[in-house]
Amino acid sequence: MNRVVVTGGAGFIGSGLVRALLADGVKHVAVVDNLLSGKEENLTEVRDRIEFHNADIRDHAAMRKIFEGTDVVFHLAAIPSVPRSIQDPLPSHDVNINGTFTVLSAASDAKVRRVVYAASSSAYGDTLVLPKVETMLPKPKSPYALQKLAGEYYGSVFHSCFGLEFVALRFFNVFGPRQDPSSAYSGVLSLFMKCLIERKAPVIFGDGEQSRDFTYVDDVASLVIKAAKAKGVEGNVYNAGNGNRYTLNFIWSQLQAIEGVDIPPTFGPPREGDVRDSQADTALAIKELGHDPKFPIDKALKLTLDWYKKSISA
Ligand SMILES: NC(=O)c1ccc[n+]([C@@H]2O[C@H](COP(=O)([O-])OP(=O)(O)OC[C@H]3O[C@@H](n4cnc5c(N)ncnc54)[C@H](O)[C@@H]3O)[C@@H](O)[C@H]2O)c1
Repeated sequence: MNRVVVTGGAGFIGSGLVRALLADGVKHVAVVDNLLSGKEENLTEVRDRIEFHNADIRDHAAMRKIFEGTDVVFHLAAIPSVPRSIQDPLPSHDVNINGTFTVLSAASDAKVRRVVYAASSSAYGDTLVLPKVETMLPKPKSPYALQKLAGEYYGSVFHSCFGLEFVALRFFNVFGPRQDPSSAYSGVLSLFMKCLIERKAPVIFGDGEQSRDFTYVDDVASLVIKAAKAKGVEGNVYNAGNGNRYTLNFIWSQLQAIEGVDIPPTFGPPREGDVRDSQADTALAIKELGHDPKFPIDKALKLTLDWYKKSISA
């Protein structure tokens, strides 16, 4: 793996992946990002070691050119929000489905060996059984969940019809440094971090007993790199979670305990399209990709909080 491209590489997970790829010894890392939600600052310390393209994944000609000579494309660019896909479905459909198609098609035309795709656990919807296993029938509850699932299906068809190696990883609530807390659509843990530092009550949508398999960004980046290297996994879909689940109430109480504060949350109405519980069965990823998460929740929360404290005070 000498030459790679990370789409969405200026985003939260993408910029973490770029760092992990460089640390893994990859010689040539290119980033494609139109900076819709990503920021070049996310790449500051590694900026002189990468090639940055301010480009849109829906631009086939541009993608075809950038992908020339590339071994692996990590496709993370997306409009990644359930509520945003309900309030404004057109752009998220266009980027998440048409953009993903364009990436696959350009990668196939440019003879890229493998595309590793950031899929989403939201594709499962509400399942009767936990943890969620890859063999379960997906039941998306939102346009976003459906769009991410369509990307998986498109990828597997590019594999079977055009010989493009494709591996999809269903990310489960990723958190960590550089997750942007500035919008109403931001990930819940980034919003919790901001509230905690500002000593404000977070708004929890629903009763707070909904649960998530919160996964630290470095564990996800490691798994994504393993998926790029693994043999005999082409066309497959894997859960990329930690295998645990924690309620939002529990996480907020843990964060308060770390800071030694008592700030009761405010509760709002449940959000449309939200899944009630989420937890990954990680057996397949462990067996076939060597998944080996290193960051239990307490350690990951502390690391993340330290980063937000530094970045908010900077
Ligand atoms: N964060 C999570 O918990 C989570 C969970 C499941 C799946 N995912 C998937 O992981 C990927 C990364 O998510 P993230 O949380 O880092 O979000 P993010 O918003 O930080 O990153 C997405 C990146 O894509 C870029 N982008 C958007 N539209 C683009 C376009 N048309 N052309 C080029 N670049 C474009 C954005 O500027 C941004 O840098 C997404 O595909 C998302 O669906 C994330």
